[in-house]
Amino acid sequence: MTTKGTPTPRLTTTAGAPVADNQNSLTAGVRGPVLIQDWQLIEKLAHQNRERIPERVVHAKGWGAYGTLRITGDISHLTCAAVLQPGAETPMIARFSTVAGEMGAADHERDVRGFALKFYTAEGNWDLVGNNTPVFFVRDPLKFPDFIHTQKRHPRTNLRSPTAMWDFWSLSPESLHQVTMLFSDRGLPVSPMHMNGYGSHAYSLWNEKGTRVWVKVHFKTRQGHRHHTDAEAQEVVGRTREGYQEALFGAIEAGEFPRWTLQVQVMTEDQAEACPFNPFDLTKVWPHADFPPIEIGVLELDRNPDNYFAEIEQLAFSPSNVVRGIGHSPDRMLQGRIFAYADAHRYRLGTHYEALPVNRPRCPVHHYHKDGAMRFFETLTDPDAYYEPNSFDGPRQDASFAEPPLGLQGPTGRFDHRDGTDDFSQPRALFGLFDEEQKARLYANIARSMRGVPDEIAERQVRLFQQVHPNFGAGVCAALDALDPQF
Ligand code: NDP
Ligand code: HEM
Repeated sequence: MTTKGTPTPRLTTTAGAPVADNQNSLTAGVRGPVLIQDWQLIEKLAHQNRERIPERVVHAKGWGAYGTLRITGDISHLTCAAVLQPGAETPMIARFSTVAGEMGAADHERDVRGFALKFYTAEGNWDLVGNNTPVFFVRDPLKFPDFIHTQKRHPRTNLRSPTAMWDFWSLSPESLHQVTMLFSDRGLPVSPMHMNGYGSHAYSLWNEKGTRVWVKVHFKTRQGHRHHTDAEAQEVVGRTREGYQEALFGAIEAGEFPRWTLQVQVMTEDQAEACPFNPFDLTKVWPHADFPPIEIGVLELDRNPDNYFAEIEQLAFSPSNVVRGIGHSPDRMLQGRIFAYADAHRYRLGTHYEALPVNRPRCPVHHYHKDGAMRFFETLTDPDAYYEPNSFDGPRQDASFAEPPLGLQGPTGRFDHRDGTDDFSQPRALFGLFDEEQKARLYANIARSMRGVPDEIAERQVRLFQQVHPNFGAGVCAALDALDPQF
């Protein structure tokens, strides 16, 4: 009997045959070698050899849990999305992550945090794959692989390279806003529960009449913002490299379910036309004074996964997953991501990754994709209806799900995305929110991170900080001068 009083299950091979002995290999004699016909041994060793899959190319270290999104406000005039209707309750799963570290990296490192949400809506999966910051380092997807290379290991030293990071940032003024957030207090949250989540991009909502508005989506922590200083984090990492897993898993096991308030900012198509900056530029926020956040719901996490690998490692998010009533926007980073994620999953998890239990929609799925490795799910349609159009009652398109058309205009070209943009005003507004102690920590965090960086790179970056605010540049300079050369 098990400790729960149920009969102990019988150990079997993967083919279901009961196993008589799981302690001793099959050998020729008491002291002799193992026989190759010991299938149990071969199966165990072969399975172990296949226990690892490629880690995510970014955001490899993560922590996740299940929960529910409850809609308490009313934006039904803006969207027909079932998941956003008043009173809707939608099951979901969240995965939080750091960006640069590998799977075994310590949790308490200064880095942007991923904040990825999959909502199992009645009309398909909606994935909101955001971060704990509302902006990003680059605004053109062509620059994403270059940026990520600077965050990962140097090809020769196999070490992280502050020189590469600051070289790239100092040559990319559009990164200033995100860099300022990363090195501010919020760049090192104490746990996934103590940070906000931002959809970051502009998305769209559309209603039954076919009217579209642009939106930004925010999840504001109800646990309060809490962060570590670099020194505190060093001390934590000395004790545990798994602080986030312990905190999130532990809180949910203890019944302390974390919550976030869902807010949206809304911009009409006319307001977007008149906006003084490009509202689809991912390095910019929409100021609250002009686009006030509207509270519409609450997200709560209340269940830990039973199997980390099956439910969190095999979890696959993609910004391409939107549902009726929710759409994309002209944000070109978003377009890059619409391609990149499903492509990554086919490589990391396989062709049929969306049929895995954790990714599987909780609504009927009918498509005409056919075979491939691990085509393990049941036949979805009448077996004669395996192409389209057909005369065998196979699944048909439904025009009522069509997104309203979006007009695009202008000549095709590779336009300089830095031309005429203001990369300084919004970081300046952020800098203006910090008190003197926060500013001092910002300067010191930056200076420590610049240790060993060649002078010309550090000076180029300081010139950018100076353009944000003279005190910012001067503060970083002073912090660099104050660095202890011994460390
Ligand atoms: P507001 O004063 O209305 O909003 C300021 C926002 O800054 C609040 O949402 C606050 O978050 C957030 N904030 C405070 N400290 C930090 C930090 N260390 N790192 C990141 N965010 C922080 O001003 P505006 O809307 O005009 O924005 C001013 C600046 O605030 C922006 O340039 C941007 O840098 C930053 N910001 C703006 C956001 C937006 O969507 N408008 C969102 C997040 C940041 P909270 O409410 O959780 O305290
Ligand atoms: C993960 C690409 C920008 C948030 C990933 C992965 C890829 C990728 C390939 C790994 C996916 C996997 O294997 O499961 C890109 C590209 C970008 C981009 C090409 C820009 C062009 C962004 C931005 C955000 C973001 C702007 C946030 C606003 C995330 C998160 C994950 C992730 C949270 C982890 C998801 C999870 O928990 O599984 N990205 N990314 N990325 N990305 Fe991006």
